[in-house]
Amino acid sequence: MTIAQMEPWFGEEETNAVTEYMQSGGWLMEFRKTREFEKMIANYTGADHCVVTNNGTISLTLAALGCGIKPGDDVIVPNYTMIASPNSVQMFGANPVFVDVEPETLCLDIEKTREAITPKTRAIMLVTANGRYPKSGIEEFVRLAEERDLVLIEDAAQSLGSYFPDGRHMGRAGKVGSFSFSVPKVISTGQGGALITDDAELADRLRGLKNFGRVAGAADIHETIGYNFKFTDMQACVGIEQMKKLDWRVKRKKDILRRYREKLAGIEGIAFFTQDLEHTTPWFIDVLCERRDELQAHLMDAGIGTRVMYPPINRQKAYQRPGSFPVSELVGERGLWLPSASQLTDEQIDTVCDAIRSFWS
Ligand SMILES: Cc1ncc(COP(=O)(O)O)c(C=O)c1O
Repeated sequence: MTIAQMEPWFGEEETNAVTEYMQSGGWLMEFRKTREFEKMIANYTGADHCVVTNNGTISLTLAALGCGIKPGDDVIVPNYTMIASPNSVQMFGANPVFVDVEPETLCLDIEKTREAITPKTRAIMLVTANGRYPKSGIEEFVRLAEERDLVLIEDAAQSLGSYFPDGRHMGRAGKVGSFSFSVPKVISTGQGGALITDDAELADRLRGLKNFGRVAGAADIHETIGYNFKFTDMQACVGIEQMKKLDWRVKRKKDILRRYREKLAGIEGIAFFTQDLEHTTPWFIDVLCERRDELQAHLMDAGIGTRVMYPPINRQKAYQRPGSFPVSELVGERGLWLPSASQLTDEQIDTVCDAIRSFWS
């Protein structure tokens, strides 16, 4: 069997919760279970409001629309991220502008962000990559957004269980924060996304926009254009059970990174990023490695599945934008995700590390 990345998402608890729900004659579409799931996320993150959506791409689209971003507006997005971040605004005709990331954290570089702002810029989408916060500090981004009258949207898709050093959960520094519950994330509902905010008016707007622009409840009164970005109660049943496992997963993810760091110490061909394990939770174990593709093949021969990290977005055929982005380019050449599932045993991690060591010896 291959040692790979995936979590076993469905246990007895999820199965029982869905079965019980189905037998209770529930609505299937979003209703009471979804409200309960939203409350759990709001409580966990400390946000005043949570609005769930059908996935973590649409939650970013909804966030941008709710914050008044319009077609033709520029939105600053990191050149290293999952392609969903820029696609979420490109979808309605806004223009993602790519900016390189910090080498230590792979979060947006504050100076390069500052330089990229023009009169057309309306928002900064800060991705807290792998649960990390920018080395320059999140407050620098909050200040920059305030000074330049920009909306700060946090793409915290990879950051459930990660906090800023001041104790706030990620997603709470900007106007709105977005999460994804796709597979594989720290918790998953198959597909799913969530927005958190402390702004009651924005939360109301988001709820309306995701529900066809309905003024209230099920009545067919529409003052604005809206969409169907809704969740389902079936998924919420799974999400509620997943949330109960979150504390354990967060602890295990941190222990896994500690073990990898310890076991791979001294190998010159492998470099870890800066990850503050007191506050943040690594979703995946990401490293830069020399001769990456050869190492990946060597590990595959040993039955160990890995994944190449995101290529620089400006080089993707979908965008093809010119420019120099040395950090995201380096990640494109050397970035590798090692097996990261919280269910990995210490022995399996040691097997992976021994195989990596044998590659260079
Ligand atoms: C940073 C980031 N943003 C957005 C998304 C998109 O989320 P979803 O797959 O739920 O649409 C992902 C998914 O991996 C992500 O990593």
